[in-house]
Amino acid sequence: MARTVWDSSVGKKTVMAVSGLIMLLYLVAHMIGNLKIFFGSGEFNHYAHWLRTVGEPFMHYEWTLWLVRIVLVVAVVAHAVSAYQLSRRDIKARPSKYVHKKPRASYATRTMRWGGIILGLFIVWHILDLTTGTVHPGFQPGHPYQNVVDTFSTWYGNVIYIVAMLALGLHIRHGFWSAAQTLGVGSRTRDRALKTVANVLALLLTAGFIAVPVGVMTGVVS
Ligand code: HEM
Repeated sequence: MARTVWDSSVGKKTVMAVSGLIMLLYLVAHMIGNLKIFFGSGEFNHYAHWLRTVGEPFMHYEWTLWLVRIVLVVAVVAHAVSAYQLSRRDIKARPSKYVHKKPRASYATRTMRWGGIILGLFIVWHILDLTTGTVHPGFQPGHPYQNVVDTFSTWYGNVIYIVAMLALGLHIRHGFWSAAQTLGVGSRTRDRALKTVANVLALLLTAGFIAVPVGVMTGVVS
């Protein structure tokens, strides 16, 4: 049964929609958490510490965090694998090869594909930058406020994050809309409202995330 669903295009699109919505929920929470940086280092670092102690004493130190990490990794992998397989299927379904070298996929498909690749690379960079500190000179474990300020005190930090946040906005704008269609929420009467929700969500997330580097660059956060 699960195999049949996974083998169908609708099944893969459903996997994309559900995994995308899980990541979207995480991003809303992450963006709200990040905005605490405007309330000072004490509040931001305390929040980062709380992320590791959520659920205690039932959960052990960092168990909830690891649970969230596992769910996110499964969601990212499921999202990427189904996207790849759907795009392969799309190419194979062509009745014949184009005589002229035309773009193979639609504008939306191509932006989603490139947006997805940029976001995948960004997530790896972001974890090496602010979680493990591997690519972050002077990284201080347990001091996320200072680490974030350091990241946005370099030109490349700002460029990487701002480009990724813009890609994120575009990806969510189209992705949210597609997910709604796949899950059967769309209808002629609801489509306009759904497009508005997709636009507002994309705009809020992009603006909320970009507020942090802008805060550091303008000296509001230092
Ligand atoms: C300006 C934007 C962002 C800032 C300032 C920021 C900040 C941070 C910080 C400080 C951490 C480390 C938290 C800790 O260890 O206590 C973190 C972790 C993380 N962020 Fe972001 N983030 C931003 C955008 C994003 C975006 C757009 C995504 C996803 C597309 C994302 C996904 C993650 C993930 C997956 C983790 C790893 C969580 C973990 O395993 O510890 N972040 N972020």
